[in-house]
Amino acid sequence: MRPYSTELLARAQTVIPGGVNSPVRNFKGVGGDPIFFKQGYGPYLISVDNQKYLDYVGSWGPLILGHAHPKVIKAIQEAVSYGLGFGATTPIEVEMAELITHHMPSIERIRMVNSGTEATQSAIRLARGVTGRNKILKFEGCYHGHADCLLVKAGSGLLTFAIPNSAGVPEAFTNHTLIAPFNDLQAVESLFVDFGEDIAAIIVEPVAGNMNCVPPQPEFLSGLRKLCTQYGSVFILDEVITGFRVGLGGAQELYGVTPDLTCLGKIIGGGLPVGAFGGKKEIMDYLAPNGPVYQAGTLSGNPITLTAGLATLKELTPELYNTLAKTTKTLMTGLKERAESAGLSFQTHQVGSMFGLFFSEEKQIVNYTQVARSDVPHFQAFFHGMLKQGIYFAPSAFESGFVSLAHTTAEIDYTLQASEKVFAWMIEHSLTVC
Ligand SMILES: Cc1ncc(COP(=O)(O)O)c(C=O)c1O
Repeated sequence: MRPYSTELLARAQTVIPGGVNSPVRNFKGVGGDPIFFKQGYGPYLISVDNQKYLDYVGSWGPLILGHAHPKVIKAIQEAVSYGLGFGATTPIEVEMAELITHHMPSIERIRMVNSGTEATQSAIRLARGVTGRNKILKFEGCYHGHADCLLVKAGSGLLTFAIPNSAGVPEAFTNHTLIAPFNDLQAVESLFVDFGEDIAAIIVEPVAGNMNCVPPQPEFLSGLRKLCTQYGSVFILDEVITGFRVGLGGAQELYGVTPDLTCLGKIIGGGLPVGAFGGKKEIMDYLAPNGPVYQAGTLSGNPITLTAGLATLKELTPELYNTLAKTTKTLMTGLKERAESAGLSFQTHQVGSMFGLFFSEEKQIVNYTQVARSDVPHFQAFFHGMLKQGIYFAPSAFESGFVSLAHTTAEIDYTLQASEKVFAWMIEHSLTVC
């Protein structure tokens, strides 16, 4: 029973489209009604009906320290007493830029924005401005925010121009967007043979985190790097999720690949709205006021956001990333063992503290077509079963999950015990056939 959530949803639906300010929140992917939350602490969320949930969403990635980390909250409280923003330069912007460029040496210059969407669309404009070319190449199942040219899915063939994936995006706006399957270097090579002279940039999530969680195959990222170098295209890594999530140096350090531009978001804002893009000095110098590519933002580099971000980043150490990876591994192996011993076909993916759960018989899931074949009704049953046990996974079979430093052995044990009950329930109700 969630009476206040139900009442709020009814009210929300009369004043907010779908009752939500971002689509996945409304539970369409799993059925049922969304829960309204009023508080978070450590790994837990508290609903408006005073129910406690163990959270594996972490505000979709930013909360690597858990909810309401005392040091982050204290830093913000102090910062707000000095004012909320000045629309002018501040010392904390310099500190943030220095810290990021220190951890990610491919970033020689960085500019702060207010969301991941702003970061990717600015990076693409910049790549087009620098190269004087039109086309960009993205991957099926990768999400880079909701800028028009990026809101596309693959056409029927590898060489098909992309079809807009949202009403309101004229086809002309996506005519220059090329699509290839994730992890398919050959498809990318073919596109470069045909269009290479007009490809301004490749943009890719180094670990796909918006089609569940799909790591790159060996040689995929380095192959993309090589093609960009060969054709003079800009290689953009969208590390909005992976930046400071899979390690201090992001996925670029983990996989040993050097992008020309990097997009960041989520963790660098410590839970407040943020984005950033940066990279090679000679590319970034094309930006106004130095260069001809225009980009600006009233609230960019907001001191409260950057305070939350810096307080978060300063807590992170290589040892803590090891802890996160270990905790996540225990969760993944435990879930897989329990699902399989119940008789379910179940696969897991993990990169650091990012994870993916698939009800699927396919042993190696590397692209969107395979992800889309996974069993959504099974996931929905699992999601709602776990929710009843007080565990909140992302309300969609196509989103990555996140473990935070606030998740301890006790939370993982509880999750695994709960999963046994849920898997057994799924079997009893004949949800065995994928
Ligand atoms: C990889 C990636 N890039 C870009 C974005 C867009 O970020 P925002 O929602 O802050 O606009 C997201 C959002 O989830 C993302 O996962």
